[in-house]
Amino acid sequence: MNVPQPFQYQGSKRALAPLILDFLPSKFHRLVEPFAGSAAMSIACAARNRASRYWINDLNKPLAELVNLIINRPEEVADHYTNLWKADDEDALEHYYTVRETFNRTQEPKLFLYLLARCIKGAVRYNAEGLFNQSPDKRRLGTRPETMRQNIMAASGLLRGKSIVTSHDFRDVLAAADENDVVYMDPPYQGTSGDRDSRYLAGISFDHFVAALDGLNSRGLRYVISYDGRTGDKSYGEPLPAYLNLSLVELDAGRSSQATLLGREEKTVESLYLSPALSAELPPVPKTMKRHLEQSVLF
Ligand SMILES: C[S@@+](CC[C@H](N)C(=O)[O-])C[C@H]1O[C@@H](n2cnc3c(N)ncnc32)[C@H](O)[C@@H]1O
Repeated sequence: MNVPQPFQYQGSKRALAPLILDFLPSKFHRLVEPFAGSAAMSIACAARNRASRYWINDLNKPLAELVNLIINRPEEVADHYTNLWKADDEDALEHYYTVRETFNRTQEPKLFLYLLARCIKGAVRYNAEGLFNQSPDKRRLGTRPETMRQNIMAASGLLRGKSIVTSHDFRDVLAAADENDVVYMDPPYQGTSGDRDSRYLAGISFDHFVAALDGLNSRGLRYVISYDGRTGDKSYGEPLPAYLNLSLVELDAGRSSQATLLGREEKTVESLYLSPALSAELPPVPKTMKRHLEQSVLF
């Protein structure tokens, strides 16, 4: 199935989405994504017509606004991208830095699309002041305007009229979720501590996250979390407490590209945790179960 991806984003679940969807009910009312990033799960879910409504949220405001514009004003976004991309002819690097400086001043989401397409590995980076400081990729020109337009139009076709996009803290989103929803959570990487994470605009506190999950359990809500993972013997992320009574599924994401570069045979395993209410609805899920992803395209 050809699922559109308007922009690359670090930690995007585009490649893993088909495997994760196996652990969601076959049909449900609304998918809630509190840490949506590029909204890869919502797009994958909509492409398979699994839910009828989508709530896409990310604390990063220009990112959430960009997703909103892609869904609701796709032609305007595609035209703007085409113009910026073409203006890159003269001095591409100079052009990138000018756009980056303007974006940091204005937070204009359409400029963000250009930066995401042109920056190194689509990997957003922020300095301590919260300014976007990733460098341009010197070898790649960024998605061609025609391809970008096709992806944007396709993503819009899947989500328009069915979605709301917001920019709240995840706890506010969880507080408003209900029993008709399935919540998919992909919080920022846990390897760094505290509220700041240069890899995303904000990190989250482990204790806040666990307290929020406990709250969802007491309301009997259905949720799935992509949480930690491991490459070879190295694990990431503090274990989630046993009292949350989550079921763990390990997704085999294939060989880690970093390890392959270093000549090692390590595999990347991504963990998925299912809430008690969700596990109760699915065919019995063994506590640990492995699923294999044929091709790893993780960053
Ligand atoms: C791992 S990324 C999600 C990637 C996403 N699954 C995708 O496929 O693109 C985590 C996201 O959480 C967002 N985030 C960080 N702190 C947050 C918070 N307190 N509430 C909501 N979103 C937050 C970050 O801006 C980042 O986009």
